[in-house]
Amino acid sequence: MNRTVLGILASGRGSNLQAILDAILAERLKAKIGVVISDNPAAPALKRVKGFDIATAVVERQNYPDKHSFEQAVAAELNLHHAELVVLAGFMRILGSEFISRFSGRIMNIHPSLLPAFPGLDAQAQAIRYGVKVSGCTVHFVDEGMDTGPIILQEAVPVLDDDTEHSLAERILHVEHVLYPRAIGMYAEGRLQLSGRKVIITEKR
Ligand code: GRF
Repeated sequence: MNRTVLGILASGRGSNLQAILDAILAERLKAKIGVVISDNPAAPALKRVKGFDIATAVVERQNYPDKHSFEQAVAAELNLHHAELVVLAGFMRILGSEFISRFSGRIMNIHPSLLPAFPGLDAQAQAIRYGVKVSGCTVHFVDEGMDTGPIILQEAVPVLDDDTEHSLAERILHVEHVLYPRAIGMYAEGRLQLSGRKVIITEKR
């Protein structure tokens, strides 16, 4: 079976990238990382794939006159490495509509809250401030809104009275590392069907 080729976009730490790589290495996820692209040359994420036969590319926003040409350069890297699914793993930029329609239905993101609660930056701090008793994470397809795309998987974690944004982020991150490879696996198996803004997960064949 051909493995779905992933193009992973990461700006920072790369712990989700690591979880995806680990799942592939352990054969829990039947996919292949075609390229890791970062807009940040210092991103620790880039180091995570060192020593593996995985291409990396740095595409810095400052080297392009506008957002459009920056995104064209990112798309060119994705195409060069035959990426079928674009996986946002801590990519700290909002993608424009042309990029999104170019990869329509083929861009995934993970967000550290139970969407539609707490979209945008600092979702864990938002949850603490609001005083919710439960938060979690969401894997979703990306549309033009801010964390508004069709939801693929969600999982909840408790919010404890003495939680800080850091302790909550840690608890959520553990779940992210299980959920993201699982959602990518479902995509790779052709099990995710869009019906309006609902994602139907079909049974494993
Ligand atoms: C994660 O919390 C993810 O939910 C959010 O950005 C963070 C990325 O962390 N989108 P990492 O770079 O994967 O460690």
